[in-house]
Amino acid sequence: MNVIRRRGWEIPERLATPEHYFFNRRAFIAGGASTLALAPGLASAQRVADLAKLSDPTADLYPAKRNAKYTLDRPITDEKINTHYNNFYEFNSSKDVAEQAQALRIRPWTIKIDGMVEKPQEVGIDDLIRKMTLEERTYRHRCVEAWSMAIAWTGFPFAKLLDFARPLGSAKYVRMETFMDKSVAPGQRQPWYPWPYIEGLTMAEAANELTFLATGAYGHPIAKQMGAPLRLAVPWKYGFKSIKSVVRFTFTDKRPKGLWEALQSSEYGFWANVNPKVPHPRWSQATEELIGTGERRPTLLFNGYGEYVADIYKNLQNERLWA
Ligand code: MTE
Repeated sequence: MNVIRRRGWEIPERLATPEHYFFNRRAFIAGGASTLALAPGLASAQRVADLAKLSDPTADLYPAKRNAKYTLDRPITDEKINTHYNNFYEFNSSKDVAEQAQALRIRPWTIKIDGMVEKPQEVGIDDLIRKMTLEERTYRHRCVEAWSMAIAWTGFPFAKLLDFARPLGSAKYVRMETFMDKSVAPGQRQPWYPWPYIEGLTMAEAANELTFLATGAYGHPIAKQMGAPLRLAVPWKYGFKSIKSVVRFTFTDKRPKGLWEALQSSEYGFWANVNPKVPHPRWSQATEELIGTGERRPTLLFNGYGEYVADIYKNLQNERLWA
């Protein structure tokens, strides 16, 4: 993500991002993925994966059977690269959050389901996971910062959560919320971000067959820095929509405002569908860098998933679908 300090009348002062963050980001973009080769901590990837397995009471469910329907046009990104190149602003605003994110306590972990539902409820993550049938899916992930990865997620379709949550017919959106705990997440002590991290989907998006809740990746429980114990994966949207470490699903008739939209709505909107022809206000979205390979490829409309999702947006031409 990349939010710069705007003039006073464009964004409230308390929401502006300090300059050092912006300049760090620019330095990273200039350096490109070659900086990864120098990243400290890559050697500890195995340790992170081992920790994920050890501390997770559902570890016996992995690896889950792969769903062969969702194929890739590129190799899966190396796990060592993926687990050391993350956006998790609750911990810090660099890509190097793996070590800090280990402070997150992921058990016990309770998911709250409320708002426009037949019956509000709370469910422990292990009970929820065991009610679902886990499957593996390979998806592409396109960050708004113009880099991409390919990941083997494990989890269950969001549609199964809808069956469990029983939203009312009048619900139009689902609002998702990340944990809030300043004692473990130093980023949450930074008051210029409107914590907690929020994201939202329409009910049609939530019910789409691609919309996935990941509990694992690379054949084992998901690493903390990737959003343990439960994160969203919506591969046709820019990565910021795929909220990590979710604690709450609220069904509502009001469009939720995500953290990035609250910070800078001119650049990070509600829809955030991938479109190579619509540049971000400060950079092109035409191509993407495949992290870990140095390769640059053209970006595809809806990140290549149009056959699954384009219909959702047929009658929404007046919306800012591409930001
Ligand atoms: N969710 C939370 N709670 N906090 C974050 O900072 N970053 C988002 C998204 N979900 C983020 C988040 C962004 S910008 C991206 S690109 C993806 O997570 C990154 O996921 P990854 O680190 O697994 O690649």
